[in-house]
Order: sequence, then C-alpha cells, then structure tokens
Amino acid sequence: MADAPVTGTATEVTTEEAPGPQIYTPPSHVPTVVVDDVHIVYKVHGVGTGKGSATGALSRLVSRKTSPTIREVHAVKGVTFTAYKGEAVGLIGSNGSGKSTILRAIAGLLPPERGRVYTNGQPSLLGVNAAMMNDLTGEKNVVLGCLAMGMPYAEVRERYQDIVDFSGINERGDFISLPMRTYSSGMAARLRFSIAAAKSHEVLLIDEALATGDSRFQRRSEDRIRELREEAGTVFLVSHNNAAIRETCDRTIWLEGGVMRMDGPTEEVVDAYEEYMGKKK
Ligand SMILES: Nc1ncnc2c1ncn2[C@@H]1O[C@H](COP(=O)(O)OP(=O)(O)OP(=O)(O)O)[C@@H](O)[C@H]1O
Ligand SMILES: [Mg+2]
Repeated sequence: MADAPVTGTATEVTTEEAPGPQIYTPPSHVPTVVVDDVHIVYKVHGVGTGKGSATGALSRLVSRKTSPTIREVHAVKGVTFTAYKGEAVGLIGSNGSGKSTILRAIAGLLPPERGRVYTNGQPSLLGVNAAMMNDLTGEKNVVLGCLAMGMPYAEVRERYQDIVDFSGINERGDFISLPMRTYSSGMAARLRFSIAAAKSHEVLLIDEALATGDSRFQRRSEDRIRELREEAGTVFLVSHNNAAIRETCDRTIWLEGGVMRMDGPTEEVVDAYEEYMGKKK
C-alpha cells in the first residue's frame, strides 16, 4: 500500500521472502499479534470406555475410579505468524481445521500447550456464541456489553442510539425492549456485532459473526470492519464466505488439520483454497 505509515522501529519485515507471484506487503510495521509455534491440545475427560452408559458410571463409582480416560485432540499444530496494525486477516479452512481454536488462543481463552501468543492490548473475541444474557432485553444487553468492553457509562448513553440503529433491530417494531430470547439468530448476531463494533479495538477477532446476518447487514458490517481497520486496529475474520473474505481482507491464512497451509495475499490464498475444495468434492 502506497500510504503505509513509516515507523522508525521496523525493519525485520522483508517483502522478498514472500513466495509466489504476488507479494504481500503489510500496511504497517507495527506488530499487534505474534503467534509463535503454537500448539493447542484439548483434553476431553471421561470418554472412551463404557460408552457413557449408566452401568459404566456405576461401576466407576463402585470401583472408586475417577476420570476413566482422557482423550487429547491436537487441534493446532505449530502455527506461526505475525499480524500488523491496520491489517484485516482472513482465516479460512475446512470444518475442524482449527480456526476458532486459534482465535480463542489469541483472545487468551485457551492456553497453548507449546509456543507463545503475544498481543498488543486485550483482543476482543466476537463470536456467534459471545456471552449475551438471553433473559435481559436487547437494551440491557447493549448497556452491559458496552460496560464490559470498558466503555464509561456516559459514553454508553451517548452511543446507545447509534448501536441500536446500526443493528437494525428496531426496523420492524420495538424489539430492543424485548428479551434477547425472542430474537432470531440473525438478529442476535447483528446486535452482538453492533455492540462490539461500537468501540475501536486494538485487536478485533470475528468468528463467523457475519454469516447469520442478511446481505444488507453483511455489507454494512463489512464497511464497519474496514473503518475499524482504518481506526488502527487489526481485524481477524473467520468465515466460510469466501466472497466476504475477498471483500474485507488483504491477507489470508489458510489452515488445514491444524497446520498452516498458506499465508499471503487474499486473492492467491482463496483461489488455492477454492481449487482444493473443488477437487475434494
Ligand atoms: N472444546 C473442545 N474440546 C475438544 N475438542 C475440540 C473442542 N473444540 C474444538 N475441538 C476440536 O478441535 C479441532 C479444531 O476445531 P475448531 O473449532 O477450531 O475448528 P474450525 O476451523 O473453527 O471449524 P468450523 O469451520 O467448523 O468452525 C476439531 O478437531 C475439533 O473437534
Ligand atoms: Mg469455528
């Protein structure tokens, strides 16, 4: 990008190391997320014997054996990359390839088995299952969500109407004063996105959040992601919607089986991924 800010610190990023015909140049040289040879292993307790039957549980009780087995799922296997300020990074790959796991590790919710994650500031994870209180009204969730992000109360009041307007929840009646459990999954996702997008984040992690909104909301949120990126932060977007990735991200990382297959300019990586998925059919 021609107007990349020039900073005095960074020299370690060289463009010539990028393979292939397209060369990816980060918009700045200020690292915000460093993922260094990260391995994530989930430990699943109490599986493998007795098929979870009542007799199995009873015999474990009688024999006073505690956890019978622990199965390990090695979800991420040695992933390394650095993301820079001003970047929107797409994360793609088939189901179970480790995308959500990596995001949770960046958010600090999962400790790596090996390797390290360094971040600049506290990343905010915006997922399809981000915490919302279902019995509270949309209105209360907006206020709570903003306070939870560290926004002062006065600013919450000031921003409240913009957030509700952006979500479009009230377009077909006064839904914001109804409990969240009365919302469709798309409406809930829109409200979640609108709350998170009300604040600029140093690192914003979005997991499939756009997928449930309708096409008009998707366009609006893509615009907002672009703004957030310009407001300084780094945005990670996990999606199976390749068009949204192409629209929003300059750089894309492709994971498969917990291993990084490719990292580079979105066009090149998404093309390769689509070819791979096409062949798999
Ligand atoms: N809580 C968990 N406990 C055990 N294993 C898990 C857990 N969450 C995910 N896994 C496993 O980790 C691997 C990676 O899962 P992950 O959710 O990161 O995939 P994903 O790329 O986000 O997939 P999708 O596209 O379906 O959202 C999978 O093999 C999955 O079974
Ligand atoms: Mg996922």
